[in-house]
Formats: sequence, C-alpha cells, structure tokens
Amino acid sequence: MKPTLYQPINSEIVDIIDESPTIKTFVVVPEEEFTFDTGQFVELTLPGEGEAPFTPSSSPSLTEKMDITIMKAGRVTGLLHECRKGQKVGIRGPYGNGYPIEDFAGKEVYIVGGGVGLAPIRSLFLTLTERIKDFKKIVCRFGARTPEDIIFKSALFNKWMKLDGVDMKLTVDKANGKWKHNEGVVTTICDKKDVNIKNAIVVICGPPIMMKFATLKMVEFGFEPKDIYLSMEKNMSCGFGKCGHCMIGKYYVCKDGPVFTYEQIKGYPNIWD
Ligand SMILES: Cc1cc2nc3c(=O)[nH]c(=O)nc-3n(C[C@H](O)[C@H](O)[C@H](O)COP(=O)(O)OP(=O)(O)OC[C@H]3O[C@@H](n4cnc5c(N)ncnc54)[C@H](O)[C@@H]3O)c2cc1C
Ligand code: FES
Repeated sequence: MKPTLYQPINSEIVDIIDESPTIKTFVVVPEEEFTFDTGQFVELTLPGEGEAPFTPSSSPSLTEKMDITIMKAGRVTGLLHECRKGQKVGIRGPYGNGYPIEDFAGKEVYIVGGGVGLAPIRSLFLTLTERIKDFKKIVCRFGARTPEDIIFKSALFNKWMKLDGVDMKLTVDKANGKWKHNEGVVTTICDKKDVNIKNAIVVICGPPIMMKFATLKMVEFGFEPKDIYLSMEKNMSCGFGKCGHCMIGKYYVCKDGPVFTYEQIKGYPNIWD
C-alpha cells in the first residue's frame, strides 16, 4: 500500500470559487504527484481541526491541481468555508473504486444529478467529454433547489449545454422570474425516450431522497438494476476498510464503493438514509 493511503500529502488551497450560497470549489495543489480515477474520493485534512471525505470535481487528466467542491454541512466543512487562498491542507487517498468508464464505452450515458452531487458528476462529465466519440450520447438531467443553488453555472451555461453530443436539461424545485428552464424535481425532466434504454447506463448522484426517487424512476423506465450506477455516501472515518463506519450490508462504501450498481445494494435496508 502506498504511504499516501495513510499519510496526507501537504497541499495548498490556491483558489476558492463561490458556487452558491452554501457551496465553494477549492482549487488544491498537492506538493507531490497525486492521481485519481473519476468517482474516487479523497480525505481532505484541515490541520489541527479534522478531515472529511470529498470526491474531486475536476477531471483526473488535470494532474498538477485538483478541484474539490464542498457544501457547508457541519464543523469541518464550515471551517473549510472560512479558509482563504494560501491555506495549507492535507490530501490522502485516493480511495474507492470510481466509475467504470471503460464499461460505458459505446453506450448512451444518462446522468441524473442534483445539488452538491454535481461535484463528482462534473469530474465524470469532463472525463467523458474529453473522449466524447467513445460514447453514443451523453444525456444530463440536473437539478437544484433554486437558480442560485445551481453550481458550475459558467461552464454549464456557456460550454456544457452547447457541446455536440450532449443533451442537457436543467430544473429547479422553485424558480424565480429570470429562470428559463424547468420548474420541478429532477425526475420531472427525465423521460424514457431520452435514451435507448437497451444500450444505455444511468449514473445518479445527489441527495439521498433524490437518489431514491430517480432510481425508482429509472427502474420504471425499464433500466436493469445492473445498469444503474449510484454514488453512495455514508459517514466515514478511516476511508480504507478498517473501521467499519461505512457499511451497506456486506460492502464497505469506502473500499467497495462509493460507486455501486443498484443491483449490488438494492436488497439491503436503509440504503437511502
Ligand atoms: C465518498 C464521499 C464523497 C463525498 N463527496 C463530497 C463532495 O464532493 N462534496 C461535499 O460537499 N460533500 C461530500 N461528501 C459529504 C462530506 O463528506 C460531508 O458533508 C462532510 O464529511 C461533513 O463534515 P463536517 O465535519 O462538516 O460535518 P459534521 O459536523 O461531521 O456533520 C454535519 C452533518 O452532516 C452529516 N454528515 C457527516 N458526514 C456525512 C457524509 N459522509 N454524508 C452525509 N452526511 C454526512 C452529519 O450526519 C451531520 O448531520 C462526501 C461524502 C462521502 C462519503
Ligand atoms: S470508512 Fe472505515 S471502513 Fe469505511
């Protein structure tokens, strides 16, 4: 096992982007080379305060720095939101399995995301679009609570929505006067005609309640549970299968996940808690 799996690499926050009232993207430069696969997660340490797991939101092809998009949820994330450029942090990992991109090749990739769940999805989306010809089509259905809560606004509106081979729709739970897209939860912009279900996989990432209803909707559309990929979040401690904090049934979310097919976990209770 590489020492980085246990020991944080000294790193520095070199930029901070306000994404929404509760979400910021931190651009982090590690002192040593740090690589990951899209969908894997890292433990970010704020020295003297603690650490928390996050999935980098940048593409793995960007190796000299990494974006980590963080919602203010509690103690550590609250302290991170108070940090300024130049703050020293630690990064350990990467942990977990990530998305099986090679299995998606030749298929239509249907991505359903919401809230801060767009962080791992941004990394996935950038990875897919770097080799867009390998996929039949990329269909994105993204949601947020209000227009202000939409993250990555600039890339989303100015680049991603305009890309050839990408079909993207947006929705918010509660619109305001300027909003030109859909109003309603994310499943209201999902339609079984969006993709050819026989040659498609779906990736779902967002708050547990959204993951639950989006998954049930995909099953209703006719997706096989093996073709539904879910990024699961459970409270974690060690991050590499030693402490048992993150179990879903027989699986360690930190080691066997965080990406699971619905087929793998659908039989276990409380998967959406
Ligand atoms: C694999 C993985 C990837 C993640 N990626 C991201 C990411 O890219 N961006 C992001 O903003 N967040 C992400 N999270 C969630 C993030 O780790 C938690 O928000 C963070 O640990 C909260 O730490 P805290 O000290 O601020 O909160 P605490 O003070 O510890 O807790 C505040 C509240 O958040 C809840 N909470 C704590 N940990 C988690 C958790 N892991 N999942 C859900 N709720 C939690 C607590 O139950 C409590 O209600 C990820 C979690 C996992 C497991
Ligand atoms: S976080 Fe320790 S076993 Fe998963």
